[in-house]
Amino acid sequence: SDPDPLQDFCIADLQAPVSMNGFPCKPASNVTSNDFFFDGLAREGDTYNSNGSSVVYGNVLAFPALNTLGISMNRVDIATDGLNAPHSHPRATEVGIVAQGKLLVGMISTSNVLYSKNLTAGEMFVVPRGLVHFQMNVGEESALIYTAFNSHLPGTVFVSSNLFGSRPSLPDDVLMKAFQVNKTVIDQINSKFG
Ligand code: GLV
Ligand code: MN
Repeated sequence: SDPDPLQDFCIADLQAPVSMNGFPCKPASNVTSNDFFFDGLAREGDTYNSNGSSVVYGNVLAFPALNTLGISMNRVDIATDGLNAPHSHPRATEVGIVAQGKLLVGMISTSNVLYSKNLTAGEMFVVPRGLVHFQMNVGEESALIYTAFNSHLPGTVFVSSNLFGSRPSLPDDVLMKAFQVNKTVIDQINSKFG
């Protein structure tokens, strides 16, 4: 869903001292074969964290050749019992394929309907742009997913850290009203994300 490119390629100059929609191109005379290849998704992510999961981003910031091309990929590793927590992508639809393991893959529509299914290797899923979704390892081995997006920088909003880990933090009154709970509950959740 990104705009169409206006040239063959435009390897991002991530250090350029200008701010614009996308990134300026590095000079074509400096472009080499290496610019068009990226091995960042070859390595397993570190899942030793509270969610037991890791997303390795293959977006324009990691792989500057994607600049203006409207496409990117991630690698998601999820340990046994791990969760890629509910999140959304404001700028892209996502497709994914399970490479290893057994996962509960789910998403929630704007009508608050949950659509979910257990998937194993070779099976695909799709998440329309902006919908909240998650993947949970429900198998006996670690799981691996590759995902792809129709944006060079889809953006990721994790629901829990967006609401409870913002800087500065949301006023307690906003969270208490939104979740219909008292300050003790808000403090407890805040302490995990603050
Ligand atoms: C998985 O949902 C991902 O965003 O890579
Ligand atoms: Mn996602």
